[in-house]
Amino acid sequence: MAAADSCGGLITLEGGEGSGKTTLAAQIAQRLRDEGQTVCVTREPGGTELGRLIEGILQEEQSSPLSPLAELLLFEADRAQHVSEIIVPALNARRIVVCDRFTDSSLAYQGYGRGLDLELIRRLNHEATGGLKADLTLLLDVPPEVGLSRGDDQNDVTGRETIDFHERVRGGFLELARAEPGRFVVIDGTLALEEVTERAITAVREGLLLR
Ligand code: TMP
Repeated sequence: MAAADSCGGLITLEGGEGSGKTTLAAQIAQRLRDEGQTVCVTREPGGTELGRLIEGILQEEQSSPLSPLAELLLFEADRAQHVSEIIVPALNARRIVVCDRFTDSSLAYQGYGRGLDLELIRRLNHEATGGLKADLTLLLDVPPEVGLSRGDDQNDVTGRETIDFHERVRGGFLELARAEPGRFVVIDGTLALEEVTERAITAVREGLLLR
């Protein structure tokens, strides 16, 4: 299929630490490229030059911890730049954008995890994205003990948090998925990578109406 036949669309990958989103993003992109789609794989935070600076601030050990609101605003600043510089141009070029974390991460981590007001986060998400929503969100659900044991997330702003925090984040993601069943597909992230990939590809075909 020629690039001009690519259908475009925004797929977001969400989940807790060590849920396997990044590996899955690469797998999905490869499968779609094999079928002739043009794909842009990107991530939040850190999908732009500004985003990488913000990511550095978020990962740095601060002498006094970031306030939850300051943390949220850094993620939203990253998102505003990312949407305008990378995502919207890619969608306009009819690419399929596979984005490792997006607006739901702010709701799950800063909202359910840190306790910030969900409506405030929804408003800021709306401003940062200009109202852009994912066509499909794949939620990789993994118990925190499993996810945290898989990788070294100690550098992440939330990787240093307690199991309780990560349980709240997981519960938040699942609640968001229940509230929008038309957009979310929940995949058991403890399954083998091949099975996770097959389920994800099926969801992508249905979500983006690919043949
Ligand atoms: P990861 O995607 O490599 O796991 O790391 C990103 C970290 O940033 C992870 O701990 C989740 C966190 N995060 C938020 O807390 N809020 C957000 O809005 C986003 C995009 C990420």
